[in-house]
Amino acid sequence: MATTKSENYVIDEMILEDSLVGIYKARHLPTNEEVAIKKIKVGRHGEYTDWAEPAAENEMQMLRKLDHPNVIKLLDSFYTTDSKVAVLVFELMLADLGRLIHCTDNRYSHSHIKSMVYMMVSGLEYIHSSGIMHQDIKPGNIMIDNHGIIKIADFGISIYVDDTCRKLHRLPPAWYRSPEFLLGDRQYGTSTDMWSLGVLIGELINRHIVFPSKSEIEQILMIYRLLGPPTDQTWPEAKSFKHFLQFNDDSFLNNEESFEKKFSKANEQELNLLKSLLVMNPKYRATAKQVLESTYFTSNPPASKPEDIPRSAAPRHRHSRDPFHMNDVNTNDENLPSDYSHLNNDTKRQLFSP
Ligand SMILES: Nc1ncnc2c1ncn2[C@@H]1O[C@H](COP(=O)(O)OP(=O)(O)OP(=O)(O)O)[C@@H](O)[C@H]1O
Ligand SMILES: [Mg+2]
Repeated sequence: MATTKSENYVIDEMILEDSLVGIYKARHLPTNEEVAIKKIKVGRHGEYTDWAEPAAENEMQMLRKLDHPNVIKLLDSFYTTDSKVAVLVFELMLADLGRLIHCTDNRYSHSHIKSMVYMMVSGLEYIHSSGIMHQDIKPGNIMIDNHGIIKIADFGISIYVDDTCRKLHRLPPAWYRSPEFLLGDRQYGTSTDMWSLGVLIGELINRHIVFPSKSEIEQILMIYRLLGPPTDQTWPEAKSFKHFLQFNDDSFLNNEESFEKKFSKANEQELNLLKSLLVMNPKYRATAKQVLESTYFTSNPPASKPEDIPRSAAPRHRHSRDPFHMNDVNTNDENLPSDYSHLNNDTKRQLFSP
């Protein structure tokens, strides 16, 4: 029952807070086990926002069904007695990949990257074979635990593949959105996650955001610049999509980029992997199963053991917008990682907003 459930937990520390979501390090009193608690302020009748309650319900429902070493485990979930806050209890993780990539000096060898990719793709393969699209694959939603095990988290906007209603209560950030999603394909499938994974792997290799656009149009343009715009030969369906973009003036392609230049730190195997994922037409994009069976994992160097992955995490700046009567939010630029300091406020919001 809700009343007894909240009393089982005591909050030790805030991990982060935003206007409607708070993540805390907590303890389960009966077992003294350390856990992470995610509180989502849903209100009684969705009075705060229309996305918080569906997101909380969605995450609970999806995660109750999923059980895999590379998917975050939901240990418990309930609403507070006043029904205003949804509480999700997770296994406690050390950090998310966004922080490891951009806020630490940890050096990741090709073997470490291979090990991380293996765990991410294994998790995604399981999610997809369970009939679910995650839809929000990005560094902040991929966690690493104390033993170097990677787990996919944040199922707030995940949906069933056969759910024909593709209305999302919240959009994933543009930087990781697939071309079919950006161009308005209503039939997109699990390959949308494989695109996002490709962007994330590129970011892990480069230690830079791959397509740091400031708008959806610029996002499409950046993708066209790397892959060339869709043609009748490469993707005939594309021009029927609602947001299909064709440029009469192709001069933007003058500074066309090559994979080799864009991912200059990647070795040959990593380049092949990226080329199999960052494919414009989703029909030709590698599936999670195909990636698992690809030569990337049989070629040298072998994947490192998870426990060998460097994972010292930078301490977080506390930031809060006081959803649960905690500290005031501090949005000063100096609190942002230095890598992001050149971005404009909208882009920052995309990156840091819940
Ligand atoms: N189980 C956990 N253990 C430790 N930290 C966690 C855990 N779950 C989430 N976090 C931290 O909290 C952050 C936000 O969590 P989550 O993605 O679930 O919330 P969200 O509000 O839906 O986020 P966003 O909309 O920014 O993706 C993560 O990026 C991570 O840094
Ligand atoms: Mg998240």
